[in-house]
Amino acid sequence: MITLSGVQFAYNGFPVIKGITHSFAKGSFTALLGPNGSGKSTLLRLINGILTPQAGTVEVMGRSVGSISAREMAREMAYVPQMQYNTFPATVFDTVLLGRNPYISWSPGKDDRRITAEILVRLGLDDIALKDLNKLSGGQRQQVFIARALAQQPSVILLDEPTANLDLRHQHEILLLLGELATGGITVLVAIHDLNLALKYCSEFIILDDGQVRAEGGSDIFREELIEDIYGVRTKIIRHEGEMFILPTEPL
Ligand SMILES: Nc1ncnc2c1ncn2[C@@H]1O[C@H](COP(=O)(O)OP(=O)(O)OP(=O)(O)O)[C@@H](O)[C@H]1O
Ligand SMILES: [Mg+2]
Repeated sequence: MITLSGVQFAYNGFPVIKGITHSFAKGSFTALLGPNGSGKSTLLRLINGILTPQAGTVEVMGRSVGSISAREMAREMAYVPQMQYNTFPATVFDTVLLGRNPYISWSPGKDDRRITAEILVRLGLDDIALKDLNKLSGGQRQQVFIARALAQQPSVILLDEPTANLDLRHQHEILLLLGELATGGITVLVAIHDLNLALKYCSEFIILDDGQVRAEGGSDIFREELIEDIYGVRTKIIRHEGEMFILPTEPL
């Protein structure tokens, strides 16, 4: 579905992604982990084609990302960036409707409005559908951007810290929803800091450290020594009723 081969990227000559090779299978739900500044957001932007690698290739369904038109790309892949403070004035409904743009020739049709309404209901945003986006809380706004990504009906969805602004209930609701999308065949990749949330919902993990892949695979990649080495924090891995939890044991 998505194949990265030897991907390298530098901002103004400063290397940030240092040779990443990884494949994401169709319908996989992958957590992209790693410390602040390890390159997660940059990697998402490379997969989305916003950034172009200086070496290596990014392919989506066997095609180089750079060769896919913006409109076609938007039908294939949705991207929800990390934190969006300044937003244009628009209602929640109109913002989510924008997700239909890659399917619209010049004005949205009945189906576009129906799909938008269905997504608003699915995310429990129908109550605030006519509110101005700028008058929402950070978490509500985050959910609206996730709704807009869903309106694109993509086959791949990339989300950069989608739960960072959400309360406990919404963190779980969003990850549960993303898991359902993955089960339905959508390839989901989330950059996320909360290891326990990632462990609960994601089935694949890739840990970046200084622009390189330190570990990748299933939940068995998590070891106390590895976590201490990457994050500099001692933890204890606890198994309880078939689930795994990572508990910090000491202050730094
Ligand atoms: N637009 C930019 N111009 C120059 N350097 C950048 C730019 N964006 C990010 N960087 C640098 O690239 C490195 C990786 O940043 P990136 O945002 O990909 O990390 P991240 O893993 O997403 O971090 P975080 O967990 O804090 O979101 C950092 O050293 C950062 O300072
Ligand atoms: Mg980031």
